[in-house]
Amino acid sequence: VRAGEAPEPEDDSLAALRAAAAGCRRCPLWKPATQTVFGEGPEDARVLVVGEQPGDAEDLSGRPFVGPAGKLFDRALEELGLDRSRFYVTNAVKHFKFERRGKFRMHRSPDPSERAACRIWLDRELETIRPDVVVCLGAIAAKAVFGGKFRLMEDRGLWRKLADGTRAFATVHPSYVLRQRDDDSRHEAYANFVDDLSLLKRIRL
Ligand code: URA
Repeated sequence: VRAGEAPEPEDDSLAALRAAAAGCRRCPLWKPATQTVFGEGPEDARVLVVGEQPGDAEDLSGRPFVGPAGKLFDRALEELGLDRSRFYVTNAVKHFKFERRGKFRMHRSPDPSERAACRIWLDRELETIRPDVVVCLGAIAAKAVFGGKFRLMEDRGLWRKLADGTRAFATVHPSYVLRQRDDDSRHEAYANFVDDLSLLKRIRL
């Protein structure tokens, strides 16, 4: 595969998409990363969850939302009595972008060209799964799904419709909750996060 290109999937199954994405070189992020972290979940999932990009733990394990942010997300879903294993969970960008600081790899935001290059994979996941509901975690995911004008803090927790009629909403990224400096702000951010996600309880899944 040449720089700037990706292998063509053999068919439109998730397995073929995943295999093709593993060799993606559409942007430079593949090189320092350990592996492509593709979405995960049942092909017939009714709910598709979009995050930003894999973090350190996801890059190493190859699975989305398994690190601290994923654990917080799991806790919120559990509190709501929702079963994550029935959801398809993926990211807007499928390689970990980081900066080395000593022994740590610090997350860096994907830039617009990287997000645009990765877009085809999310589009293909959406086409294959055809979910009833899309949930965006954080601004990067929300902009990928709703467009660049989306304002997370104004529009979070509100149902919208995508061009094809799919229902969707956005909430904050779980890392935003974890980043709050004091306990009170963290508790409040978490409560609001759970409250947004509770929209999922009001639909029949
Ligand atoms: N943050 C994300 O946005 N996605 C992951 O998969 C992990 C952390």
